[in-house]
Amino acid sequence: MATPHMNAKKSDIAKVVIMAGDPVRIKNMAEKFLNNARCVNDTRGMLAYTGLYKGKKVTFMAHGMGCPSMGIYSYELFAFYGVETIIRVGTIGALREEINLKDIIIAKRAYTKTNFDDFYIKNGASFVEGSSKLSEKAVEICEKYNVKYHYGDIYCSDNFYTDFDQIELAKEKNLLGVEMESASLYLNAKKFKKDALTMCVVSDSLVTKKALSASERANSFDDIVKVALSVALKK
Ligand code: HPA
Repeated sequence: MATPHMNAKKSDIAKVVIMAGDPVRIKNMAEKFLNNARCVNDTRGMLAYTGLYKGKKVTFMAHGMGCPSMGIYSYELFAFYGVETIIRVGTIGALREEINLKDIIIAKRAYTKTNFDDFYIKNGASFVEGSSKLSEKAVEICEKYNVKYHYGDIYCSDNFYTDFDQIELAKEKNLLGVEMESASLYLNAKKFKKDALTMCVVSDSLVTKKALSASERANSFDDIVKVALSVALKK
C-alpha cells in the first residue's frame, strides 16, 4: 500500500506515532530509543522508523515544517494507516520571560490564524484543543520524573519570519510559546476522532533573544522523547 506521500506498508506503521520536524532527528531518535528499528518510509526523505520500546511497537516519523506539511502526514497516518495516537515532539520559541531554554511546553490548545482546511474562513483566529487525556498524562509523567515543564496554550503560526508582534499576542491570549505545526495536527485528530498531543523543547526565546546552538538542540531532545514514549505506553 502507498499513499500520495508515503511508501510504507500499512502493517509497518504502529498505532502510536511520535513525530518531529526533522528527518535526521527522527533517525537519531530511532537509533537511540528503539530496538530492532527499521526504516519503513522514505518518500521525499520524510523518514519513518518502526521498532520496539519496552516491547511495544512504536513508529517515529518526520513531519516537515508548517501546518500544510504536518496536515498531509497526520491525515495519511490517521486516515490510511489506522494510527490512533500522534505525539509531536518539536521545538518552540518562548513568548514569556520566565520560560527558559530547554524547558518543555505541553500544549493544551493551539491559538491559530492558519487557514488549514478553511479554518480561518470558518472561525477567524481561534483555539484548537489537543487530547486532554494525553496532555494530562504528559504533565503527570513530567511531575513524576522531575522534568521542568509548562502546561497551557501556545501560538501556532504559519510564519517563522514575521513582523507581527507575537509577544503582545501572547500577553493578550495567555500563550506560552510559538511553533508551527500543532494546529493542523489537532484539527486532523478532531476530524478523525483520534488522539494528538504537541510537546516542545524551548529552543529560543523571543523575549530574551537567547537560543540553543545546533548541538545543544540535538542534545536537548532526550527528556522529551522519554516523556512522549511514557505517554504512549500508558495509553
Ligand atoms: N517561531 C516559530 N516556530 C518556532 C520558533 C519560533 O520562534 N522557534 C521554534 N519553533
